[in-house]
Amino acid sequence: MIKKAVIPAAGYGTRFLPITKAIPKEMLPIIDRPTIEFIVEEAKMSGIDQILIIVSSNKNAIIDYFDHNLELETILLNKSKQELFNVVHDIGEGVHLFFVRQKEQLGLGHAILQAEAFTADEPFAVLLGDDMFVSEGKPALKQLIDLHQKTQASVLGTMEVSYENTQKYGICEPQQTHEDYMELRGVVEKPAPEYAPSLYAIAGRYVLTPTIYKYLKTQNKGKGGEIQLTDAILRLMSEEKVYAKNMEAKRYDVGSKIDYIEAIIDRALQDDTLKEDIQAMLKRKG
Ligand code: UTP
Repeated sequence: MIKKAVIPAAGYGTRFLPITKAIPKEMLPIIDRPTIEFIVEEAKMSGIDQILIIVSSNKNAIIDYFDHNLELETILLNKSKQELFNVVHDIGEGVHLFFVRQKEQLGLGHAILQAEAFTADEPFAVLLGDDMFVSEGKPALKQLIDLHQKTQASVLGTMEVSYENTQKYGICEPQQTHEDYMELRGVVEKPAPEYAPSLYAIAGRYVLTPTIYKYLKTQNKGKGGEIQLTDAILRLMSEEKVYAKNMEAKRYDVGSKIDYIEAIIDRALQDDTLKEDIQAMLKRKG
């Protein structure tokens, strides 16, 4: 069983500047809770019990958020605000959280390398800190964990993208298609549409075997001058099988403004205390 997960959250968040100068993009609120809390919850619901969050020097707000705030909790209790006390106290409960700093932002592959001592020789899950998945049924990560149980190999979570959008993602090259998953022959980071081997994009969720570290350690810089996880996964394929699965869930890339706004609206529409007002507001705006 996969029990450990890694959430890389050390990136600069340049698409969301200037707010990310002071606030980590993973802490941007989806109404009243930060994105990263939804990601931690997804991991928990997928059976994960230990999570390592990779942070950088200006991301202490993430660590503080998951810590107890004794002063606030005492004030809430003294004012008999038991319900609010529970809300604040229960954040991050039911899972062990660990933090490590990535000292230099050399890319996603380099961020994952910081998890080696934590995951040791076990296969582990990766959930990108700015990708939110909302699913009616099985959580997105659990869908990958179940396929890993069956294959005992690395599994990449994918989604279909449009032809024009291949250059925003790592793109899979399928070797063989099974009923609801694929065995891969290759992956390529951010190809121009004419060079994309398919429209299956890697989308923020992975289960990786520890063999990946061997390739991350020797990985040269790739697209954008960064150490790319996709490049190391391609080299991993010379030694082990790698699978991909289209996840059945709605994805929000909350590092992009449009998806971030949609995530807020969708959450409001699911909240009985907000739904009617939001629907009326959206109607007024046409
Ligand atoms: P992104 O490329 O989406 O994040 O990386 P970014 O670099 O922060 O954002 P933009 O593109 O400049 O707006 C995907 C994930 O990998 C993490 C990010 O925090 C994000 O969760 N990451 C990226 C690291 O932890 N370290 C890095 O060196 C790079």
